[in-house]
Amino acid sequence: MTKPSVLIARAVFPEVVDRLAAHFDVEANQADDIWAQHEFINRLQGKAGVFVTTSERVDEALLAQCPDLKICASMAVGYNNLDLDAMTRHGVLGTNAPDVLTETTADFGFALLMATARRVTESEHYLRAGRWTKWSYDLFAGAEIHGSTLGIIGMGRIGQGIAKRGAHGFGMNVIYHNRSRLSPELEAECKACYVSKEDLLGQADHVVLVLPYSPAAHHTIGTAELALMKPTATLVNVARGGIVDDKALADALRDKVIAAAGLDVYEGEPQVHSDLLTVPNVVLTPHIASATVPTRLAMANLAVDNLIAFFTEDRAVTPLNPTVLAAARKD
Ligand code: DGY
Repeated sequence: MTKPSVLIARAVFPEVVDRLAAHFDVEANQADDIWAQHEFINRLQGKAGVFVTTSERVDEALLAQCPDLKICASMAVGYNNLDLDAMTRHGVLGTNAPDVLTETTADFGFALLMATARRVTESEHYLRAGRWTKWSYDLFAGAEIHGSTLGIIGMGRIGQGIAKRGAHGFGMNVIYHNRSRLSPELEAECKACYVSKEDLLGQADHVVLVLPYSPAAHHTIGTAELALMKPTATLVNVARGGIVDDKALADALRDKVIAAAGLDVYEGEPQVHSDLLTVPNVVLTPHIASATVPTRLAMANLAVDNLIAFFTEDRAVTPLNPTVLAAARKD
């Protein structure tokens, strides 16, 4: 029996390639070449499945040119690179990788918050540049973390993980804003109070963004929202590029509208707005919130589980558009 053909769009752990190769006829990209969209489409010809990351775009134009494609398994939890409506129209199943990265990403959100508020990277650059000649009472004096008010926008699993770290670990007063309010039980577990977005921006000492990207979430934080924040406040984005207006943020950091920011994601990444590179009061990391070896392995293996379940049992572990499965079963 011939094995289904699967394309692995980006380099991944060798054991993940081996696992896929045991079940499928695999074309891998272990050189980690970044393909132009037309090359990605060419490589997908005759492929029934594709393993993707956050960097590949699967849209109407691609799907129209890849009639053999049946499943697109992403190793990321965020899926704004997949046009699910178009995939459903074309009968292509999408899967993502939730849960396995929750705690690791929450750890990193907290690390970025601490590095930002306590000016860790800014002070390190100063030291490495040989500028540290004496101790002074206000040298890199930052913002307090313990006992301060933490505002979380986007209270899904990762947001809840950050809330618990803040409330239970650092005695922070946690407020949140989300599309829907958590159950009283979850609010109690996270020790978090629901507030409007405007109240959150006005009250929080630290604002952490963990909401999924959607067109409605585009520029959730821009000039107007930054103006509502305290001048001593910090802003952290571990969600997606485009949720913050990066140019407006760079201006606000330069003009001290807020004290500091920590960013792991950017509009148009891996490009970073040049103005952000010139302001000192921002901590910049290259989309690494889920990057520990065990977590990235778990994310990749969940994508593999989805591909295997789909081709061997007509199901998926974490489907994004399960109606495709139901429709295929009826056929
Ligand atoms: C995700 O899973 O969506 C992350 O952003 C990728 O690391």
